[in-house]
Amino acid sequence: MGKATAMARAHTNIALVKYWGKADTDLIIPMNNSFSLTLDHFYTDTKVTFSNDLQADEFILNDKQQETTKITPFMNLVRQMANKNCFAKIESTNHVPTAAGLASSASAYAALAKAASVAAGLNLSDIKLSRLARRGSGSACRSIYGGFVEWLKGFDDKSSYAVPFMDKVDWPIQMIAVVVNAQEKKIGSRAGMQTVVETSPYYDAWIQQTAKDIVAIKEALLAQDIDKFGQIAEENAMKMHALNLSASPHFSYFEPASLEVMQKVAELRSQGISCYYTMDAGPNVKIICLKKDTPAILAALGTMFNKEQLLVASPGPGVQLLDC
Ligand code: DP6
Repeated sequence: MGKATAMARAHTNIALVKYWGKADTDLIIPMNNSFSLTLDHFYTDTKVTFSNDLQADEFILNDKQQETTKITPFMNLVRQMANKNCFAKIESTNHVPTAAGLASSASAYAALAKAASVAAGLNLSDIKLSRLARRGSGSACRSIYGGFVEWLKGFDDKSSYAVPFMDKVDWPIQMIAVVVNAQEKKIGSRAGMQTVVETSPYYDAWIQQTAKDIVAIKEALLAQDIDKFGQIAEENAMKMHALNLSASPHFSYFEPASLEVMQKVAELRSQGISCYYTMDAGPNVKIICLKKDTPAILAALGTMFNKEQLLVASPGPGVQLLDC
């Protein structure tokens, strides 16, 4: 039997070309490839301990006991892979600033995939780890790697996983997360994207567009062209949100303050500062910019938000094992 305890850290990632829709909802196979940046400041630490003494899985998040309805099916996958039949205690800490309202499922399932597989005695390759993390939450498969990452959609469990595109980022790119509202999102990404796939008349156009966006954003990245890069990311995000408006029933993650941030970014851009925005399944806005422009952007947003609502991040590393 392998080591029964392991602890891992994984960082969250923000998609620049979004994943928005599943071809297979059980296996979490996406409809399109996506492209993301792993961030340094937001991460999850998770310790997994398998024990014959446990009668069920136990899950503690930020020192509070949680339900195991979501985590047990994931742990069952690990048990199946490792041919193991005992339960586990899972202790997790989210290092995302309090009330940041940023999605943590990506870092959570990437850290859990690493810690649980190692604790179960498995020694998975990055690709196998990415496939396992994907089963918890699609975007988690990208958090296995640092820097810029592409999730190759594939067509079945074996062929759908993320690969690093640029592990070490030698470009002073940053993201400013503007926390306009830290409340739980009203429509989760899982339900939102499914409604879109089933009802938006524009969904085929989205699939065609994302394929082009992935090619173009890689070119812009390699050329270190912040304006091209930012424009592709911003327009991709707006197309994703346009799908939500075109669904039935239609929905939106925009809040008045989200729109104010977007307007401010456009205004700063007209003044010559290269900054662009992206948004996910919630009202918070993430601004893409170069490090040299971050102070000016923070100063402009400082009149609208508190310091705690403006979180600056740089490219971060892939999943790693911690001592425990
Ligand atoms: C808008 O990965 O949270 O952030 O696979 O259903 O768990 P599930 O969804 P999730 O969706 C992320 C959607 C997004 C875009 C992205 O990260 O690519």
